[in-house]
Amino acid sequence: MIPAMTPVEVHNYLRFLGSEWSGQGCAVELGSWLGATAVPLLEGLVHSGYDKLFWAFDYWRADHRQVQKAAIQGVRLSIGQELVSIFTRNTKSVYDEVITIQGGLPRSLSQFTESPIEFCIFDAPKRNPVFIECMQKLEPHFIPGVTVLGLLDFYSYKKGGEDRKAPVDFITENPTSFTMIKDWPGICSCAFFKYEKPILWK
Ligand SMILES: C[S@@+](CC[C@H](N)C(=O)[O-])C[C@H]1O[C@@H](n2cnc3c(N)ncnc32)[C@H](O)[C@@H]1O
Repeated sequence: MIPAMTPVEVHNYLRFLGSEWSGQGCAVELGSWLGATAVPLLEGLVHSGYDKLFWAFDYWRADHRQVQKAAIQGVRLSIGQELVSIFTRNTKSVYDEVITIQGGLPRSLSQFTESPIEFCIFDAPKRNPVFIECMQKLEPHFIPGVTVLGLLDFYSYKKGGEDRKAPVDFITENPTSFTMIKDWPGICSCAFFKYEKPILWK
């Protein structure tokens, strides 16, 4: 089993989303860690005949919190350990065309060269300016009426404080661009949105 920072309900939903792939765009994940969310999304995508690159962005360098989270789930990591090889091993058994971009967001997004985006999963940036700079870079690639945006830290401000409100502020400030399609109140901080129409960036 892959250590996860998200519950099985979200993994099942990602698998379902992938299986509904329309064929129009690629999938992008910011904050992939060991692959617990990428793998079910890929499983669904493969089921529906996905033939594009899967873009994954992360530092892939274990910190203290990650070592603890993995240990609780029976996997031993060490602080500073390079994790991209574990992520790649976990995803390769499902899909071969996974692009791993290792480094700090939003800067690492300069290496993103594919368009359009059908699935966009945010599980790294939760504070500004990183959150909004990632969104400014990726939203122009979204497909109105098609793209699904997963904000896996959407409700985390309820535990973590005001500086984690960037995802909520973003959705609140753009009410006609996104419709919430799924969340799990009382279970986790994740929420998924359908992209309806372009944002008029100021
Ligand atoms: C919550 S974990 C992802 C968990 C994974 N999606 C899951 O459910 O198991 C967040 C990941 O984002 C990465 N991360 C956080 N901030 C980042 C940044 N600014 N640039 C690149 N990676 C970042 C961390 O290295 C970490 O692996």
